Amino acid sequence: MPNPISRTRVLEQSRRAPAAWALAWALAIACLLIAPLAHAATLPDAPATALPAEEGYRLWLRYVPVAGEWLARYRAGATELVGAGTSPTLRAAHAELVRGLTGLLGTAPQPSRQVTRDGAIVFGTPGTSPLVRRLPLDLRPAGAEGYLIRTVTIEGHSATVIAANTDIGVLYGAFGFLRLLQTRQPIGHLDIATSPKISRRVLDHWDNLNGTVERGYAGDSLWKWESLPQYLSPRYTDYARACASIGINGAVLDNVNASPFILTPLYLRKIAALAGVLRPYGIRVYLSVPFSEPVSLGKLKSADPLDPRVQAWWSAKVAEIYRDIPDFGGLLMKANSEGQPGPGDYGRTQAQGANLLARALAPHGGIVMWRAFVYTTGGHSEDRARQAYDTFKPLDGKFADNVLVQVKNGPIDFQPREPFHPLFGAMPHTHLMLELQITKEYLGQRTSMVYLGPLFEEALRADTWARGAGSTVARVTDGSLYGERLTAIAGVANTGSERNWTGSIFNQANWYAFGRLAWNPDLAAREIATEWVAMTFTSDPRFLAPVVKLMMGSREAAVDYMTPLGLAGQMAAGTHFGPGPWVAPARGTPPDWSSTYYSRPGASGIGFDRTATGSDAIAQYSPHVAAQWGNLATCPDDLLLWFHHLPWDYRMRSGRTLWDSLVRHYDRGVEWVKQARATWGTLAPYVDAQRYRLTADYLAIEEQDAQWWRDASIAYFQSISHLPLPAGSAPPPDTLAHYEAFCIPYVEGSPGPNPACPPADVTVPR
Ligand code: GCU
Repeated sequence: MPNPISRTRVLEQSRRAPAAWALAWALAIACLLIAPLAHAATLPDAPATALPAEEGYRLWLRYVPVAGEWLARYRAGATELVGAGTSPTLRAAHAELVRGLTGLLGTAPQPSRQVTRDGAIVFGTPGTSPLVRRLPLDLRPAGAEGYLIRTVTIEGHSATVIAANTDIGVLYGAFGFLRLLQTRQPIGHLDIATSPKISRRVLDHWDNLNGTVERGYAGDSLWKWESLPQYLSPRYTDYARACASIGINGAVLDNVNASPFILTPLYLRKIAALAGVLRPYGIRVYLSVPFSEPVSLGKLKSADPLDPRVQAWWSAKVAEIYRDIPDFGGLLMKANSEGQPGPGDYGRTQAQGANLLARALAPHGGIVMWRAFVYTTGGHSEDRARQAYDTFKPLDGKFADNVLVQVKNGPIDFQPREPFHPLFGAMPHTHLMLELQITKEYLGQRTSMVYLGPLFEEALRADTWARGAGSTVARVTDGSLYGERLTAIAGVANTGSERNWTGSIFNQANWYAFGRLAWNPDLAAREIATEWVAMTFTSDPRFLAPVVKLMMGSREAAVDYMTPLGLAGQMAAGTHFGPGPWVAPARGTPPDWSSTYYSRPGASGIGFDRTATGSDAIAQYSPHVAAQWGNLATCPDDLLLWFHHLPWDYRMRSGRTLWDSLVRHYDRGVEWVKQARATWGTLAPYVDAQRYRLTADYLAIEEQDAQWWRDASIAYFQSISHLPLPAGSAPPPDTLAHYEAFCIPYVEGSPGPNPACPPADVTVPR
């Protein structure tokens, strides 16, 4: 019987390799031995021996040798490397091409000043490369950061040119060219022009100065503050390479719950050193700062944005930052949110607070990313989903031109599924930026195989209808809906000190997907997954096809086993790991820090009425969207309980009752993970043992967690619905009391221990 408790036990079991595992391994090894014979003709990349173990450090930049017919074709297209220019960024482009081509093709391309034979690769800008300058290229589509990759003829020889207007465009082009080889694309007749649709593509690191990472599931912080600025870990460069390879051009180095030490001269020196490492890769540094900094650091009596002394303090501090970091990106602010100080402390608006920083940054070209993630804890809590809109919508047009209001994809908090945030499309006179969460705070954290591409895609493609059909969140974000030039997107990072960067191999895909979508929000999650699998593992279709399928189904499976049909916020309090549907408002904590606040289960049914008969949060959406979601006949099933409170026996479009449908979703989620495990179990021949094993063990954990979610949720909701389970659905093996009593005291990335888990309640796994 799967036991929710034994997260650690799963790992131990798999380390002990009981009989079933031993058998599976014997089979896998047998497959490895016979595979080369059986598939010699069709397995272009499979080596004759077991694949060497990989820890995942190289991410999608592995550059492993190409085999078969591709090798000859690629070698013919990469005979010599012709680059000019000596800037650190062009040197990085050169180094990456050498590293990539050497790895992929087995030999380093010949360096050359001229094109002397077919298959040359020429790279540079018109300013740095006379060859590029002489070519009849229209570089306008490349813009400031994009590139062209084109097959051309130079001196009678066929060549590939990677050209851009800027050095960083060339570096992005180098990665783009290598990606073609890594994903086995033909390179004989290239005509590619691409440029990013969003100008600031930023990773938000929730890294604390003490080395921990809030909601980080991959070890400690990447930044080793103690040894900065003297020691510059090579890892910083590899981080920069990975980011540049997907076009990320900004990093907020510290947690939104910021420390007052961040702007001290001591830390600014360290930050300047990091900025120096990231700069050649086109990455600007940004910082999260506390609003009260003028008081805690500046020793002023107030941080009131209208106080001239406060304004002068910020101007001086910002000027100090720019002295050491001339390309500093700007400041990120979480104000009057979850206990953080803010302009509200002085009776000022969020816009007045943002404009204070904006004024200090403007002379230097810096920007403010001002978060809309506000809700009044304990105060106006009629519906938390309404609060950001209620606070910010009246301020539309009041923000300075270098301010972006940073809005999470949904109105609550990075749930497995939320409708899009109603602020998108609702502030035509304000720059809005989208904030996505790459780290899987609410989606299984380190261990679950949840590919977020479909979630990101869903968020970006959501249609706000603000200006009629096609007014998508992507178009608000990329500025095309309201004709804005200052555009940005942020992803809360999932990187850490773990060798594999992200805690699991598959979590790397979420970093990758964020970067690719930030560059082009119109890309499809499936296409991105396909690229990532080919680069991270192999392009062998026998591996690639089933793994892409797994990835594409993984998020929906998590929704199914955690929060189906539009439920949200059902996780254990504080840690956000594992089920806690029974968590009710506790004295001294805000009601919206409970689960029942969101699910509202009772004799009358389940779900949050956000229509006109309830909180009317639905009225914050454009009339078209509100009409669709407000009407039970047209509200999609997957948002049903987000907007409606419905009786347990409500008849769904499928003909099933709501209760039966709910249970079936939980079952379906668990079943999916079981199948995923079984599928992965067949793929050992195509993966090195180390990455295979980590993924297999994590899937085993996910299966247990999914079962735990399903059993606990059904046990709880059945205690309220008093309805029998649909035919074929097994009753939870334990009592509700058992699930309620179980708790995990510490979870990686949680700011503190689980508040609902006093030592006396910690049970022994059985
Ligand atoms: C969530 C998360 C917090 C984080 C907050 C934010 O509530 O649990 O750890 O600080 O989001 O985005 O500010």
